[in-house]
Amino acid sequence: MVNEKTIIFAVCGKGGVGKTSVSAVITKILIEHKEATILAIDADPAIGLSTALGIEVKKTVDDVRKEIIEKSKTKEKQDKQTIISNLEYEIFDALVEKDNLAFLAIGRPEDDGCFCKVNSLLKDIIGSLASNFDYVIIDGEAGIEQVNRRVMEKVSHLVLVSDASAKGINVINTINKVAQKMMEYDEVGLILNRLRAKEEINKINLPDDIRLMGYIIDNDELRDFDIEGRSILELPEGEMVKSVRKALSNFNI
Ligand SMILES: Nc1ncnc2c1ncn2[C@@H]1O[C@H](COP(=O)(O)OP(=O)(O)OP(=O)(O)O)[C@@H](O)[C@H]1O
Ligand SMILES: [Mg+2]
Repeated sequence: MVNEKTIIFAVCGKGGVGKTSVSAVITKILIEHKEATILAIDADPAIGLSTALGIEVKKTVDDVRKEIIEKSKTKEKQDKQTIISNLEYEIFDALVEKDNLAFLAIGRPEDDGCFCKVNSLLKDIIGSLASNFDYVIIDGEAGIEQVNRRVMEKVSHLVLVSDASAKGINVINTINKVAQKMMEYDEVGLILNRLRAKEEINKINLPDDIRLMGYIIDNDELRDFDIEGRSILELPEGEMVKSVRKALSNFNI
C-alpha cells in the first residue's frame, strides 16, 4: 500500500456536468503510480465509467444481489456466514482487473423489494474490498443518497462537479447539505467543468462553504475521444489532464 489509509473519492454533481469524465481522468492520473492500487466504482446504473475507461462489464453488484436472492428462494436456508462468503466470492468475480486498476460496476438500483439484509451485506463487502486499495474513485449518479445507500457511507474526498450554470451550482449546494447529514468525509471541494474561459468563474455564484479546487475549460480533445468512443485512459497530457492534476493537488493528492 502506498497510503496507510485508503483515499476514497466520491464524484457527484448534476446530470451531465462531467462526473464520469472527471472520474475517468482522476483514474487515469492515479494509475500512473504503478506501485499504487486503484479501484474504480461505477455507481451509475447507466454504467458510464466503464465505457469511459474502455472496460467491459460482465457482471454488476446488482446481478450478484439478484443471484443471491434467487438462490435463497430455491435452496434450503443458508446460514449467514455461507451467504457472506458466497457474496464475497461473487463480488470478486464481478471485479475486472487491468494492471493496477480494478473496476466494479454497481448496476441498477434495487427495484424488487428491499432485501435490506443483502443490500447491507453487499455494502459491507464493498467497504472491506475498498480498504484493500490505495485509492477508490466512485462515479456517482446525480444525487448523494445513492452513493450512501448502495456503495459507501464514508469517503475521504467528496468531489463536487458543476458546470457554469446556476442549476449545477444549486445541485452541488444541495448535495453538500445532504452529505453533511448522511455521509462522513474529510474533504469537500468543487471542480468547475466545461467553462468557456477562466474569466467565467467571476460570473459564477460560488458557494462560501465549498472550496474551489480547480476548473476545466471545455476540451476538444475529450470531445473527440467521446465521439470516437476511445478510453480516457489514453487521453494525452493536455489541458484536461493538467486541470484535473491541479485540482487533485489542491485536494493534497
Ligand atoms: N471538459 C469537457 N470538455 C468537453 N466535453 C466534456 C467535458 N466534460 C464532459 N464533457 C462531455 O459532456 C458529456 C457529459 O459528460 P459526462 O458523461 O462525464 O457527465 P456526467 O455528469 O457523468 O453525466 P451523467 O449525469 O449522465 O452521468 C460527455 O459527452 C462528455 O464527453
Ligand atoms: Mg456519468
